[in-house]
Amino acid sequence: MTTIKNVSALLLAAGVAAGLSACAPAGSATPDAEGDAATTCNVGISMPTRSLERWINDGEGLKEKLEAADCTVDLQYADNKTDQQISQIQNQVAGGAKILVVAAIDGQTLGPALEEAKSQDVQVIAYDRLINGTEAVDYYATFDNYKVGQLQGQFIEEQLGLADGKGPFNLEPFAGSPDDNNAAFFFAGAWDVLLPYVESGQLEVPSGKSPADNDGWKAIGILGWGSDDAQAEMDNRLQSFYTGGDKVDVVLSPNDSLALGIEASLNAAGYEPGTDWPLITGQDADVANVKAILADQQSMTVWKDTRELGGQVESMVAAIVAGDEVEVNDTETYDNGTKVVPSYLLDPVVVAKDDVESTLVESGFVAAADLGL
Ligand code: BGC
Repeated sequence: MTTIKNVSALLLAAGVAAGLSACAPAGSATPDAEGDAATTCNVGISMPTRSLERWINDGEGLKEKLEAADCTVDLQYADNKTDQQISQIQNQVAGGAKILVVAAIDGQTLGPALEEAKSQDVQVIAYDRLINGTEAVDYYATFDNYKVGQLQGQFIEEQLGLADGKGPFNLEPFAGSPDDNNAAFFFAGAWDVLLPYVESGQLEVPSGKSPADNDGWKAIGILGWGSDDAQAEMDNRLQSFYTGGDKVDVVLSPNDSLALGIEASLNAAGYEPGTDWPLITGQDADVANVKAILADQQSMTVWKDTRELGGQVESMVAAIVAGDEVEVNDTETYDNGTKVVPSYLLDPVVVAKDDVESTLVESGFVAAADLGL
């Protein structure tokens, strides 16, 4: 992997420091007198919230990597508030950021702030979530979001034996935040697998909250991805539609924060792991959810190694700093309504109980001690 340190050292050793001007502040074409790359690699990182473990890991991991590569880094969290994210981005640009790495809260609303940034030669990398409706996004680094949902759908299909004709099972589907572009991909990936079984009657949805097609997902989306809201929604479904002794057999949860709320609701309703506890999907490998997997309260999570994503973004930043071509592996999928954003998609991985040690623990993503192992 190209690192910023390597790139800078190479360029400086070759006496072509001016090559770094690709990301030098407007009007200053070269690094400072000592040729210190840190003055040219000035990065603003904008993350959505500290309320979810994954974003804390993402933000801090990326900051550490970039600082180790001698970049100046400003990391901000926006408390899931769009206005706050916009003003943080504006402040980062005013403070000299030349590269922005943004995980958008609402993919639709950042256009004007980023267009202003672009007018000052700032390069914009969309992080994990696409930024929509604007030219002012240069690259996108993410996991294959459709595949995340597909893995959840296929897990359900395999565990329940749907391809062998088994059923009917009671399914309750959930979707992610309606303002998050990823949520549409997660749902589409899962629903492309599951909808045929809903149509054949092998999966029944007693609540009726069963989108007729992939585009209907927003009606079952949980705004802001909150655990409490998912819990309230599940409470409501259980109390309204499972009164006659019917049981939920399977819940499609797009991520771990929703799964946690759904699990709390099932627990309060008297479901018991190992007896009538339903199959539940998730995403992110948050510690609380990995513990739930070990305790048979969650069936799987889709693990996205955020260190890998950080490494990919570090490579993108290095290439921008060096004025090199930025490596991407998808130039078709992520149309933001204004342009198709060149993207680098990483591979998500299914983790079920038997895989926890060999994937999450062995790779150092989660410490065994944090899981009580
Ligand atoms: C991310 C997921 C995360 C969710 C809630 C999505 O955009 O891709 O990993 O669980 O946001 O924060």
